[in-house]
Parts: sequence; C-alpha cells; structure tokens
Amino acid sequence: MKNTAKLIIGDKEYKFPIVEGTEHEKGIDIRNLRLQTGHTTYDPGLANTGACESSITFIDGEKGILRYRGIPIEQLATHSTFVETAYLLLYGNLPKKNQLKDFSSKFTLHAMIHEDMKNFFDGYPAWGHPMGILSSMVCSLSAYYPELEKIEIPKKDIGTIAVELISKVRTIAAFSYKKKMGEPFVYPRADLKFIPNFLNMMFSSTNRDYKIEPEVVHALQTLFILHADHEQNCGTSTVRIVGSSWANLFASISAGICALWGPLHGGANQRVTEMLEKIQRNGGNVDKFIQKIKNRDSNTKLMGFGHRVYKNHDPRAKVIKARATALLEKLGVDDPLLKIAIKLEEAALKEDFFIERKLYPNVDFYSGIIYRAIGIPTDMAPVMFAMARMAGWVSQWVEMRETPGMRISRPRQIYTGETERDYIPVEKRK
Ligand code: CMC
Repeated sequence: MKNTAKLIIGDKEYKFPIVEGTEHEKGIDIRNLRLQTGHTTYDPGLANTGACESSITFIDGEKGILRYRGIPIEQLATHSTFVETAYLLLYGNLPKKNQLKDFSSKFTLHAMIHEDMKNFFDGYPAWGHPMGILSSMVCSLSAYYPELEKIEIPKKDIGTIAVELISKVRTIAAFSYKKKMGEPFVYPRADLKFIPNFLNMMFSSTNRDYKIEPEVVHALQTLFILHADHEQNCGTSTVRIVGSSWANLFASISAGICALWGPLHGGANQRVTEMLEKIQRNGGNVDKFIQKIKNRDSNTKLMGFGHRVYKNHDPRAKVIKARATALLEKLGVDDPLLKIAIKLEEAALKEDFFIERKLYPNVDFYSGIIYRAIGIPTDMAPVMFAMARMAGWVSQWVEMRETPGMRISRPRQIYTGETERDYIPVEKRK
C-alpha cells in the first residue's frame, strides 16, 4: 500500500502505483488513468507532469542542486572541460584518458560543414536573428545525413554523430557571425581545441591578429559546462517530443533551438542585456525598475530571474556571477552593466515581491555580461546557450529513442469550444 496512490472520483476508488527515482523523487504512475477512470489530467505548462524516466541530469530545485550523471555541477565547472562533460552526458561516465583523447580528436575531424552549405548564409539578411539561422542550418544538415532518416538509430556510434553535430554547430554559429559582420569565413583549425577554435573562427581575420586569451577560454568553458544539460525544460522536451515521432536527430534539435530561442527560456540572456542597457539609458535607477515590476507595469519582468524548478537558488547563477566578475577584472573591462546587474540583484533580493515568489537570479542573469566582455553580440547570446545545450539534447534524444516501449508524445486537452452545431451556407449566415 505504501507504493500506491488512491484516487476517489464520486463513490469509486482507484489505485495507481507510485514510481520512485534513485534520488527518492516520487511520481504517481497514471498511465492507466484514462482507461480506468475515463478522466485525463489537467496540468497546463506540465509543471507537475513527469513525462519520462531519465538517468542524465538530476535537479533538486528546493535545495539548489544540479548534477550531471550524479556529479555536482560545481565540481564539473571547476575541474572539467566542455568536451569531457559532453562525453559524460552522452556515455554516462567520465572518459578514461585514451577515450577522452579519441573523443576530442573527433571534434577536429568533424568541424567542417559541407562547402555547399556556405551558400545558404547568402540567403539571410545581415540583421537576421542568429537563432533562426542556426535552427534552419541544423535542419538543413539532415540533408547531408540520409542515414539518419532510417527509423532505427544508426549503428554508427551515436557519440560520433553527436560530435559531428556539436562541432558543426560551432562552425555554423561562427560563420553566421562572420556573415553578419560582412567578413570572410574563417575555417576551423586542426591544431586548436574546442573553445579556442570557436574564438578563432569568430574573431580572427586575414587582416587582424587575434590572441586567444586563456581567461576567455576558461570563462566560456565554464559557461558551456553549466549550460550543457538541464533535464526536461522547454527546449529539451521539444527535442524529445519531436524525436518521439521518429523524426531524425537534426530535425529534433532544430526544433529545440526554436524553443530555446524564446525570451522566457534561453533567449532570456539576450533580454537581460537589453534590460540592463535600458536601465542604463534611463539613468541607472534600479529601484524605479523594481517598482515597475511590482506594479506589473506593462507586464515588466526581471529578466534572468525566476525559475520553474529552482525555488532556492540556481547553482549555475552563483558560478557565473563569480566568473563574470573575475573575467572583467582580468581583461580590465569596466562594464557599467555589471554594476547595474549587481545593484538590481541586491535590490530584488530584499523585496517581498521576489522573496514571497522565491525568485532568484537564474543562469541567464550574468552570462550576457561575459559575452559582452568577449565581444559576442547580444543577439548571439542564445546561440552560445544552444551550442552548449547540444550535448544534453543529443544525450536526451538517444535516451528517449532507446527507451523500451517509447511512445509518441501526444498530450490530451480539456475541450472548451462549441458543442456540435450545423454548417450554415454562406448566403444564410446572419
Ligand atoms: N519577474 C517578475 N515576476 C516574476 C518573474 C520575473 N522574472 N518570474 C516569475 N514571476 C512571478 C510571476 O508573475 C508569478 O507571479 P504571481 O504568482 O503573482 O502571478 C510568480 O512569480 C510565479 O511565476 P510563474 O510565471 O508562475 O513561474 P513559471 O514557473 O511559470 O515561469 C519563468 C518560470 C522562468 C518562465 C519565469 O520565472 C520568468 O519569466 N522569468 C524571466 C525569464 C527568464 O529569466 N527565463 C530564463 C529561465 S532559466 C533558463 C532556462 O530557461 O533554462
């Protein structure tokens, strides 16, 4: 009985099993709910719905805990690299030395995109949002991988396909920046590691020397690790939902990029910078801005604050704040937006409005400041998020496709429209 939930509807009682995860998270297994009771659940925003079992990422929102494959995010952010973390997410364990070497070398091997794809960039205006371009380009990649169209997961090591995707997305992101700047593309280099290679493709040029600063690599490394996965959020759920129809990996990821683009999700990092710039333009008065939020003035939100799951603090935000401050200091950058962000955070955390609603800075609050210091344009901040999230998305997609008895995602609804009525010919309509 301990592992059973009872539901009473009218004078009938129904029993449902309780499932329990390794961290003792409990869920009521309602797979037979409709069959037994004729009822469905009603959970807009799916805030109380466990849509899958997963062994990749664990979050305890009340305690502010985030772990990839059991390893605390703080440890990974301090000791790991993005490539190593991607391996961990994909394969479930940290790689041995030779495995890591082999895995890393694949990133170099697969960094190029097909030469024909370069022409696609010519079709976009310079002002086109880079997330739209990234999503289209990732979907277009599927044209070059017909083997992914097959229903079975390809026998080729899925890790290789993941690396191809992650590595090519990095090249696409850098190329779209070059296109925006009206500069020639810089090709990936075999002698550079993952993040230096990206920075080189972005900022080096035939007529300009670009020195890859270790502090910048370190800051991006940390950001990429922190963004690599985050269990069943909007973007990841989208990847799973699209993939559940057996759509190919690239199509599923392309949809995930669109979901992530939204300002309430990964697009928030862009909006935070725009919000801070606006506050700066208006004289830097953070109290006035907080008041605007409290008054619900034009639905103003404190972008980069609040989270569906974290109701204590977002462990990623703490690390990013420290990295942002350290990086700006090392680069000698005096960004007034950092000062405004710190003041804004302090002011918000004292306000009952934020305390009562358990609203704390999230991963997006300070990340934009790091990107600005590096020279990455504001609208490219969500692209940085997406590049890192590739590692989690592929891992989640594979896990979903390999789940025995995996079913297509197909939620129900509570219909509130007209009941049956007759068609009226146009000449008789009043
Ligand atoms: N500023 C002001 N009020 C807020 C904020 C905010 N940033 N976030 C939530 N609230 C209020 C909300 O209005 C509601 O108030 P009330 O109970 O009076 O109606 C209450 O707090 C609960 O919020 P909610 O909208 O029910 O929370 P949710 O779980 O549906 O939404 C969220 C979570 C992240 C979309 C939301 O907090 C938000 O819009 N934050 C700003 C955008 C943002 O920073 N997004 C990045 C999230 S982290 C990156 C990622 O997506 O992974």
